[in-house]
Amino acid sequence: MILPGLIDPHVHLREPGATHKEDWDSGTAAALAGGFTALLAMPNTQPAVTDAETLAVALTAARKKARCDYAQYLGAGADNIATLPGLASAAAGLKMYLDQTYGPLRLDDMTVWMEHFARWPRHLPIVAHAEGRTLAAVILLAALYDRSLHIAHVSRREEILLIRRAKERGLKVTCEVAPHHLFLTSEDIPTLGAGRSEVRPRLATPGDCAALWENLEVIDCFATDHAPHTLQEKDSSNPPPGFPGLETALPLLLTAVKENRLTLEDLILRMYTNPQRIFALPSQPDTWIEVDEEATWEICAAEMHTRSAWTPFEGWKVRGRVRRVVLRGQEAYRDGQVLAPPGYGKNLRMI
Ligand code: DOR
Ligand code: ZN
Repeated sequence: MILPGLIDPHVHLREPGATHKEDWDSGTAAALAGGFTALLAMPNTQPAVTDAETLAVALTAARKKARCDYAQYLGAGADNIATLPGLASAAAGLKMYLDQTYGPLRLDDMTVWMEHFARWPRHLPIVAHAEGRTLAAVILLAALYDRSLHIAHVSRREEILLIRRAKERGLKVTCEVAPHHLFLTSEDIPTLGAGRSEVRPRLATPGDCAALWENLEVIDCFATDHAPHTLQEKDSSNPPPGFPGLETALPLLLTAVKENRLTLEDLILRMYTNPQRIFALPSQPDTWIEVDEEATWEICAAEMHTRSAWTPFEGWKVRGRVRRVVLRGQEAYRDGQVLAPPGYGKNLRMI
């Protein structure tokens, strides 16, 4: 089966600052192995990507090391309101962290949100991490400033219903859901263990998970929120939140297609068509992935390319396996081997 090269609009690559978890090389290798030919990298690195200097650091690493195509987000802070718009066209978009998560980028003061909404160019994406009532607040701001807004990793019933209502009223709100919120719930925490199940947004109730599936039409994108941390860190007394997801998203969702929980068209719309449109990404010529849709296999972290070396889906039986990836005319992945070299990836904001 031939599918378009998938696009993941929500990936944490950890470079600069924490390359023992992942870097532009290992993370983009994991992307290709998972069938993604393009990814958008989040700014909560160390240092965070919040100005011209840190953007240059991230993009220099990307230029040397990325194996698939990419763009880099900028992070909204209290002190970069005036300088960010000048960098906007070089970035994937503006990321606003409005709830507690990994890294220092959280914004509490709503006047800061308002100033970013007023200044960030209207035609370029804003992505918000906003849960529960914070989501209601940021949707109001998008309406007040009459601009589009993309909501990251929706996980709860109240959130998907709120977004449904906002869309019905004609607000320019789009959203993504991560596979782990579609396939894992709070009931999996005892099996996974406390540290390994830490993720933001947290694993939600079975009722929340069912509401995501029931409101599939409201979900614009599936985005992995690939958030690698090592097992040593996950099993420590202060476990950081996040799961790697690039190499498990497509097989999990193809298995759901086999089980008639969604259609292949639903999947392509959310992993290619919509992310390309919402983030205004150029098309990648001569790019596709080849999938053996009948292959049944067991998810196994030891076979993966992510440096984090674990997955919450270890041992899950899935159906559908990426065999080959062709990116801009070159074979980039084949049967377990990543063939695109570091530096092959292009910055999608500079094509
Ligand atoms: O679980 C998470 N991990 N959620 C986030 O929002 C950030 C991410 C990370 O960077 O580790
Ligand atoms: Zn994230």
